[in-house]
Amino acid sequence: VLRSVVTGVGGYLPDEIVTNADLSKTVDTSDEWIIERTGIRQRHRAAPDQPVSDLAVEAAKKALAAAGKTPADVDLIIVGTTTPDLTFPAVATIVQRKLGCPIGIAFDVQAVCSGFVYALSTADGFVARNRSKCALVIGAETMTRLMDWTDRGTCVLFGDGAGAVVLEPGEGDGTTADRGLLGFALRADGTKQDLLYVDGGVSTNGQIGHLRMQGNQVFRHAVVNISEAVVAAAADAGVNVADVDWFIPHQANQRILEGVAKRLGIDEKKVISTVAKHANTSAASIPLALYEGICDGRIKPGQLLLMEAMGGGLTWGACVVRL
Ligand code: ACO
Repeated sequence: VLRSVVTGVGGYLPDEIVTNADLSKTVDTSDEWIIERTGIRQRHRAAPDQPVSDLAVEAAKKALAAAGKTPADVDLIIVGTTTPDLTFPAVATIVQRKLGCPIGIAFDVQAVCSGFVYALSTADGFVARNRSKCALVIGAETMTRLMDWTDRGTCVLFGDGAGAVVLEPGEGDGTTADRGLLGFALRADGTKQDLLYVDGGVSTNGQIGHLRMQGNQVFRHAVVNISEAVVAAAADAGVNVADVDWFIPHQANQRILEGVAKRLGIDEKKVISTVAKHANTSAASIPLALYEGICDGRIKPGQLLLMEAMGGGLTWGACVVRL
């Protein structure tokens, strides 16, 4: 069988670091409160003249280099993002132009914090059917642009960044020992829109709007929803959750990460956590965490990875990948 194999991973964080202490100068919050409730210590912020496509391009360059590929090889680009440069065209086509990739397929996926899991699962439909020989799947966000900087309940939670993977078709024997995307589960429940949304848009008020969230309600749904999707993705892949080498969750809140791991009986030592340094970078957080785990030598080729996320929509999902 043909599998979608991850052959390269890259990440990029903008230079500016905003600490909790920095934020406490402008909103009524404290380093202690933010660390205790979320685990976040700092976040990166894109420069005003740095659109999300620039972040995506930097992450993509690193992923291509790691895969031993060049932009000329890329025939599919899927970007998971909620914060595009422009209403249109898609960030994916802007990335295609900036990298100098040839004519191919390029589009964005909008599933907010679940964007990377959705984009990776979508790419599988091309790569594992031999419609793409070299795909870039990118999660890239400038969430700081959506913040209401007077709302302490949200503005402390998010950061900017991008992560990317290269997917190439690889022949497997159809077992769980194959490299590649082995299984996934995607979910959405549009009735929960009010828990997390942006109060602006092209066809409502023509504004960019600000992120609005009922944090404790989102929290309540997160652990239960994510755990169900993880179990479903593991079943789809034919693996046991206990066999996973690394658990690479969307980095929303340390308490959610730990809650899911505990509910599923996953050892804390197997959880990759970047939330302290990156905060919640929405669709970028999973590939950024994967990149960090590979760069520091923890995550190695051949290992079984489990990725999961939940975000606005609500959307959520999980996927199982052997690196
Ligand atoms: N600093 C100080 N106090 C604060 C802050 C802050 N930054 N933010 C909120 N508070 C206050 C509230 O005003 C409230 O005060 P009150 O009791 O006087 O009214 C108090 O803290 C408790 O508020 P809660 O919202 O109940 O606090 P909670 O423990 O739920 O923590 C948080 C809030 C961190 C937002 C938490 O609910 C959370 O992380 N939820 C998940 C949301 C999330 O991660 N969303 C991201 C997208 S979805 C996803 O990725 C899973």
